[in-house]
Amino acid sequence: MVVVLLGLPGAGKGTQAARLAERLGLAHVASGDLFREALAEGTPLGLQAQAYMERGDLVPDEIVVRMVLERIGRPDCAGGVVLDGFPRTSAQAEALDTALAAGGRAVTAVLKVVVPDPVVLERLTGRRVCRNCQAPYHVRFRPPAREGVCDLCGGELYQREDDREETVRRRIEVYREQTAPLEAYYRERGLLREVDGNGSVDMVTERLLQALEAA
Ligand code: AP5
Repeated sequence: MVVVLLGLPGAGKGTQAARLAERLGLAHVASGDLFREALAEGTPLGLQAQAYMERGDLVPDEIVVRMVLERIGRPDCAGGVVLDGFPRTSAQAEALDTALAAGGRAVTAVLKVVVPDPVVLERLTGRRVCRNCQAPYHVRFRPPAREGVCDLCGGELYQREDDREETVRRRIEVYREQTAPLEAYYRERGLLREVDGNGSVDMVTERLLQALEAA
């Protein structure tokens, strides 16, 4: 099973992808997390991506495609994967289809998490992320048990550089220009399901699971 999550920055893709992966026994691959890990390690890949990410722009397709396809070719993805943040352009979607087809696989379902702009802004400007395991928190909606400390691994929580308001606005614009066209790509293939991303995290997870059952 290969599940793709689409939706504005801050729609809750990362939060939900981790939960779906756990419930369904799939791997969770988040392109943004892969870049942030590479950056924390100071690898050439991380340094290449840094300037694009800080501006809120997309990293060039050839860099992203190479990185994600390598990741989903690893053994832990053989039983299926939830993709979070990839693909984000038509070129990435086509590269994914080609790579999956070569292994006799295909995208099973594409779930778009729908949340209005003001909600996304509130979610992102209050988000904190674990520096170690990348788990997302929110100062108001999902605070950790101990301030500044990850409940899951004890790592330090920090605010992402690209969660400043002006960068969030740029990321929303980039989504509309470059990623929204993918919705038509997947709708034409009968794969797209829209899911309301408002409400509690648990409620949204249940809606996503129902959408997957119907797919
Ligand atoms: P990436 O890391 O993928 O960021 P994004 O898509 O902008 O998504 P976010 O991580 O900001 O939001 P999310 O939808 O995962 O929401 P979350 O669950 O955290 O990409 C970052 C950058 O990397 C890009 O700008 C680009 O430069 C580069 N990049 C990555 N992939 C790329 C690609 N394929 N091609 C090119 N470039 C690429 O939730 C947000 C907040 O809301 C959290 O605080 C959470 O606790 C809270 N929350 C979640 N659900 C709820 C709820 N139901 N109620 C209340 N609060 C909630």
